[in-house]
Amino acid sequence: MSVVKERVELGSRSYEIWIGAGALEKAGALIARSGKRTLVVTNRRVERLHGGRLYESLEKVSVQWRKIILPEGEEHKNMASVARVHDALIRGGYDRGCVVTGFGGGVTGDIAGFAAATYMRGVKVAQIPTTLLAQVDSSVGGKTGVNHPVGKNMIGSFHQPCLVVADISALTTLPRVEVLCGVAEVIKYGAIASAGFFSFLERNMEQLLRMEPKVVERAVRTSCKIKAQVVEKDELEAGRRAILNFGHTVGHSIEAVTGYKTFKHGHAVAIGMSVAATLSWMKGGLAKKDEERITRLIRQAGLPAVIPAGLSTKSLLKAMESDKKVKAGKIRFALLSGIGESGIRDDVTLGEIREAIELNRLST
Ligand code: NAD
Ligand code: GLY
Repeated sequence: MSVVKERVELGSRSYEIWIGAGALEKAGALIARSGKRTLVVTNRRVERLHGGRLYESLEKVSVQWRKIILPEGEEHKNMASVARVHDALIRGGYDRGCVVTGFGGGVTGDIAGFAAATYMRGVKVAQIPTTLLAQVDSSVGGKTGVNHPVGKNMIGSFHQPCLVVADISALTTLPRVEVLCGVAEVIKYGAIASAGFFSFLERNMEQLLRMEPKVVERAVRTSCKIKAQVVEKDELEAGRRAILNFGHTVGHSIEAVTGYKTFKHGHAVAIGMSVAATLSWMKGGLAKKDEERITRLIRQAGLPAVIPAGLSTKSLLKAMESDKKVKAGKIRFALLSGIGESGIRDDVTLGEIREAIELNRLST
């Protein structure tokens, strides 16, 4: 068992991220520091695979717990699921001193976090992420919320967790496609904030995909550290935090145009990062060889790096425009000036994005 600790420094809202194989066994004792009663929010699959370890660790330290099992899937990330969590809290007589525990992937964590943010004007939430994406991204930083029929994550709030427990041994049961969604975000951290980490990923991608514990632990730890540093400086995304959206502007438009059905989020983000790397070369100062390194690493991970033939540039640009991020034909965009160096630009035109998209078709 090797468990390491990172910290997110946010004054009175600071918290620890415990990372490693065996962290789940410590979860009960860590949750007990925040409260003596918890409602575990999870789904059937995660409970069946890993629930026993969490429940045992809660019982060991006499934390009283109940659970609410939500249906699985992004289509259930909605207000109906939040209402079910609230109902369970009310039925269980939970007061303001309770802890809600989100135990699962990003869908579960976002619902649990928002339910905690809104129950009795806010109770604590502990995040126990069990997907790679949730361990490196959604469990850290305090964004919580659910979808509305008009758009993803339309209803939500910032509500930092009191604790994050990322047990990398839980990732061994993840289907490959879910691993890849997390890997896309891991590549993003290297690209935006650390040339050293990016090189590490170039050297160790196969080991990461094989889920070798040492490599996974370093990937999760470094990703969390980078995300923590960004969130500490700009918790509410007034500016710099938007660099975490590197690759996501085009990624979201690919998802929107295909009705959120054809592409997994991570695949769409991977294509989006290739386009963003091209734009960074066109106007951000990124060297051509570094643009190529980004695309190569995406491919090395088995992720797609080109715009698929069936998707028209026009429809992608239209989706970006309706995302309300466009002002006077210009769009806010996270760009790189080097590997590990990033910034937000307000002057990227739709014409430039069109060109970058087209270049990412031609390079097939
Ligand atoms: P997910 O929660 O849907 O999980 C993916 C699948 O893996 C589900 O079927 C789940 O039941 C299953 N699963 C979970 N853990 C498992 C395990 N250990 N073994 C086997 N199967 C397991 O998807 P996700 O990719 O974790 O999260 C995506 C969600 O996260 C989206 O809703 C997205 O909007 C959100 N998100 C939020 C933030 C944020 O900052 N709050 C950041 C990024 C993404
Ligand atoms: N996933 C982007 C953010 O947390 O800001």
